[in-house]
Amino acid sequence: MGAPSHLTLFDRPVLAIETSCDETSAAVIHGRTVLSNIVASQIEMHRKWGGVVPEAAARAHVEAILPVISEALLGANLDKRDLGAIAVTNRPGLIGALSVGVTAAKTMAYALKIPLLGVHHLEGHLLSTLALDNPPPFPHTCLIVSGGHTELIDVRAPGDYTIVGQTIDDAAGEAFDKGSRLLGLGYPGGLAIQNEARSGNSRRYPLPKGLSGDTIDFSFSGVKTAVLRLTQKEGPDLNIPDAAASLQEAIVSVLVERAMRAMDRLGSTALTLVGGVAANLELRSRLLKACEQNGYSFATPPVELCTDNAAMIGLAASYRLARGEHNEWDMDVYPNADL
Ligand code: KG4
Ligand code: ZN
Repeated sequence: MGAPSHLTLFDRPVLAIETSCDETSAAVIHGRTVLSNIVASQIEMHRKWGGVVPEAAARAHVEAILPVISEALLGANLDKRDLGAIAVTNRPGLIGALSVGVTAAKTMAYALKIPLLGVHHLEGHLLSTLALDNPPPFPHTCLIVSGGHTELIDVRAPGDYTIVGQTIDDAAGEAFDKGSRLLGLGYPGGLAIQNEARSGNSRRYPLPKGLSGDTIDFSFSGVKTAVLRLTQKEGPDLNIPDAAASLQEAIVSVLVERAMRAMDRLGSTALTLVGGVAANLELRSRLLKACEQNGYSFATPPVELCTDNAAMIGLAASYRLARGEHNEWDMDVYPNADL
């Protein structure tokens, strides 16, 4: 199965680097093929603080970046001189963390005399679906759900994105993470809630679903407050698996409902699901079912391409590099940046 016909991808191997938050990652991709994708997670380190500590993240990236790059080249069975370009996340993210990846990328690209390209982290998530055997058609609608973002995007073509719905407060990932902390399930919360929810009754504690009415925006701050109230009201009697299942249900059901509404409004027939929360098995299966019922196609990357990784950064760079886009050596890092 080839790439969508109007999508021309860079014809040389690309080394991609991602250090925007708490994963140090390097990958080698060639066209739509992921040759290697190495992720060194800092989760164990940040767990004891209950969240990501920016200073500690940057220092850990410094320690991990060179071995991770070497491992990515080794995994792809390539020498650095085989590379045609270097892509790196330069926005948005933790500034110190981003700087580590960008400095490594600049140094290598300069030494190897090959193009350097800065990539928007969210465009990486958005185009992670290119790695699939059957990549989604363009145009399509994309639901991005991560620790910092919850957005419904009208994807007309690579690089042509319009946000049609978004959260007005917390991101879906934040709702998982904060809920998990309140339930004593630790950090990061998504996987912990998913695992706990398996043996829980999702109807036990009905939780609010945020905005009401005919909207395709989201609000997740209310569910967090409701979980807090629940823990205060029930105290030691709170059934944790039931609470986890109820929280997952509140988040997942609203994501599915708004995605289907957006599809209908846009007249779209293809949906993609990307970002860290896309790793959630309940969300994946419920969206697949809803798409099947409505006659829509549905695509979501394998779980390891949903959470932060460098392969998605290389995939998003590939079509831009093919168009001759690149950055100069003074390329900067940006903590905040629109898609
Ligand atoms: O995309 P990502 O790895 O990093 C950001 O760019 O934010 O997303 C991280 C988020 C965290 O909030 C984490 O709890 C959530 O993704 N997550 C999950 C699951 N795995 C990770 N949420 C729900 N279910 C999961 N299985
Ligand atoms: Zn991410």
